Amino acid sequence: MRILIKGGRILDPSQNLDLVGDLLIEDGKIAGIDKRIEVSYAKVFDANGLLICPSFVDMHVHLRDPGQTYKEDIESGSKCAVAGGFTTILCMPNTKPPIDSPEVAEYVIRKSKEVGLCQVLPAGAITKGRRGKELTDFYALKKAGCPALTDDGSPLMDSGLMERALRLAKQLDLLVMNHCEDDNLSKGHINEGYVSSLLGIAYRSPSAEDILVARDCILSYYTKGRIHIQHLSSKLSVDIIRFFKEKGAPVSCEVNPYHLLFDELELLESGANAKVNPPLRKEEDKQALLEGIKDGTIDCIATDHAPHTKREKASLESAMPGMIGLQTALPMCLELVRRGIISLEKLVYLLSLNSARLLGVERGIKVGKPANLVVFDPEREWILDEKTNLSKSQNTPLWGKVLKGMVVMTFWEGKMVYNAVS
Ligand code: DOR
Ligand code: ZN
Repeated sequence: MRILIKGGRILDPSQNLDLVGDLLIEDGKIAGIDKRIEVSYAKVFDANGLLICPSFVDMHVHLRDPGQTYKEDIESGSKCAVAGGFTTILCMPNTKPPIDSPEVAEYVIRKSKEVGLCQVLPAGAITKGRRGKELTDFYALKKAGCPALTDDGSPLMDSGLMERALRLAKQLDLLVMNHCEDDNLSKGHINEGYVSSLLGIAYRSPSAEDILVARDCILSYYTKGRIHIQHLSSKLSVDIIRFFKEKGAPVSCEVNPYHLLFDELELLESGANAKVNPPLRKEEDKQALLEGIKDGTIDCIATDHAPHTKREKASLESAMPGMIGLQTALPMCLELVRRGIISLEKLVYLLSLNSARLLGVERGIKVGKPANLVVFDPEREWILDEKTNLSKSQNTPLWGKVLKGMVVMTFWEGKMVYNAVS
């Protein structure tokens, strides 16, 4: 089967590729990239005015499967992923049961292969039951297909265990990820600031994040084990990571698009739909994150797609934290491009090439390589609503809002797994 995508702007900054032309896909691979390609038979798509980039890689997705499939499941989550331009997602282990054994990891991989829309990689838990007491069998989880380990949702509080985890992970070439918020300082619901005072709501302070970020960076510095800080949100944490990167510690980090575009005032607008852990913080934190993106301190953008039902989002204090984000990531990141904060090339690094590198996944537009591509219209406006949303949940401050930038087609290993027009 041959597919010819004609007249798009083909962009892969890792190879200085920026060409308006045609791209040919044959037998799942990229078979040609040129100003003009003529073939006698092929399914042809017109990509005039569209961008063609390496498909996106999301290191932080909650699929809720097994156990909470009323919020999302591997099939609905995969559909959201490809509609958002992602063909590799790392799903978090805070499922029921958690992904703390090879059996659950194998279940995720098996089911995602049956769905067949994209690559779903399970993140294994660092500790049994995500209870923070006893390490899981890292070797078995790696063998079952987990490239990374995290207890996400809960931080790993025990420094001794984290040190052992980093040493072991280094031997096995696994990435350790941590949700950094010290439990003792994060008992509240929203950021410590104007909104928590105004509404009289218990807060979780940025120091909760900063303390664990610093600890993990220190342990990574000494053990040389790779640590990845999840959903960075605080100003001081950006400085801490910058410092340890300069010292040569193998530290990486991600940021969620919501933390880049919203601050705590959004809670007054969107209520519980703007509640997330770590919380939306102050304008100065947001500015520091944007600086971190610009100077390379922050490695990638990850959505932290965290579906919850309407009942679970009833009030600020009772609500589960999290927002869905797979379908809104591209328009949100394009907003950063439109505001002149990042270039289109940088967007491709943040959403695709850097996260791929961290997970050891191949990405790039090269003849002979698998055709993992996203084709999008940076100008097209659309609304996330009942018609367009593919998640089982609706929890996002962007619900019903006009979004600019739309995925038109997504290809996974040469197969068209999403087409906005069909
Ligand atoms: O807001 C969040 N929601 N942060 C997390 O770390 C977990 C996630 C979830 O699982 O809903
Ligand atoms: Zn988390």
